[in-house]
Amino acid sequence: MQKKTIHILSIESSCDDTGASVLENNRVLSNIIASQKIHAAYGGVVPELASRAHQQNIVPVVDQALKKAGINKNQLDAIAFTQGPGLMGSLLVGTSFAKSLSLALDIPLIPVNHMQAHVLAHFIKEDNQQEPPFPFLCMTISGGHTQILKVTNHNEFEILGQTIDDAVGEAFDKTAKLLGLPYPGGPLVDKHAREGNPAAFTFSQPKTANPLDFSFSGLKTSILYFLQKEQKKDPNFIKENLNDICASVQRTIVTILMKRLKKAAEATGIKHVAIAGGVSANSEIRASLKNMETELGWTTYIPKFEYTTDNAAMIGIVGYYKYLKKDFGKENTTASSRLKINE
Ligand code: KG4
Ligand code: ZN
Repeated sequence: MQKKTIHILSIESSCDDTGASVLENNRVLSNIIASQKIHAAYGGVVPELASRAHQQNIVPVVDQALKKAGINKNQLDAIAFTQGPGLMGSLLVGTSFAKSLSLALDIPLIPVNHMQAHVLAHFIKEDNQQEPPFPFLCMTISGGHTQILKVTNHNEFEILGQTIDDAVGEAFDKTAKLLGLPYPGGPLVDKHAREGNPAAFTFSQPKTANPLDFSFSGLKTSILYFLQKEQKKDPNFIKENLNDICASVQRTIVTILMKRLKKAAEATGIKHVAIAGGVSANSEIRASLKNMETELGWTTYIPKFEYTTDNAAMIGIVGYYKYLKKDFGKENTTASSRLKINE
């Protein structure tokens, strides 16, 4: 018979955040994150530095997660870890750690797909938070991905549309870089946008062969040319118009995202719509999605702020569902930097 209470330790190390979390069934007991500040000086994540920082952080972060949860490692039932996608050097640190610990404790090892985890973050049990019913649409927007998914099950994800070049998080971060803001710039663009006029400047919208696909590389180029032209006329242009530029770029990005999402809802007839991934922390995206409840009769699902950007609790919830199905890794399980959402 299945044990009633399952404790899973989960590890996230796909990019530049080292995370560890303990879940008791689908509830989070602890969720610890060490973010690597070192990359800000380089304007982006430096893979070599990221893997070294994971090496430094992983033991103390896991230790803290267990302590905060009040759980002894001998009480753990399984170890879940991010198998991919992500930076290979970073993934290998979490993978090796998780494999060693599962061997030492003689408990199952559960490889988790990072992108599935962003989506399943909606199933972390929280008071006053409703789970989306199947099937639902999920727009997964992060620093590495931009996809619209039809989710029919805890482990079935159909890609309806996706970016053909840059991810939306990159569009935010690259815009921020052009404006002289530090990495990661997404949250700063969001902050300045709140004080600016979104109609101050207009940027062109991309066209894609599949109307549900995204493209952000053209936007980045048009922002670059726009800034170069304006700075020729007035060298202080960015400083004097920072809030308006951020608000206008953000409005363009949100319009691109919401247009596709509306088309996907129309095409599938699905009105339960969620967002997930780091960029779903964006205040305008959250507000625009919520508006669709009155405008189009959708029921919308927005993850709790701490489960939007990379974290280990989301890895733990996938681990929990895989544990219930006894879907475990093997001794030769390894990291996979280009893992697809439906693999
Ligand atoms: O999911 P995530 O933490 O890491 C990846 O798996 O990529 O997403 C990170 C991305 C970064 O590009 C960051 O700038 C963006 O999410 N981001 C935001 C906001 N908060 C984080 N972008 C726009 N507005 C925000 N408030
Ligand atoms: Zn992520």
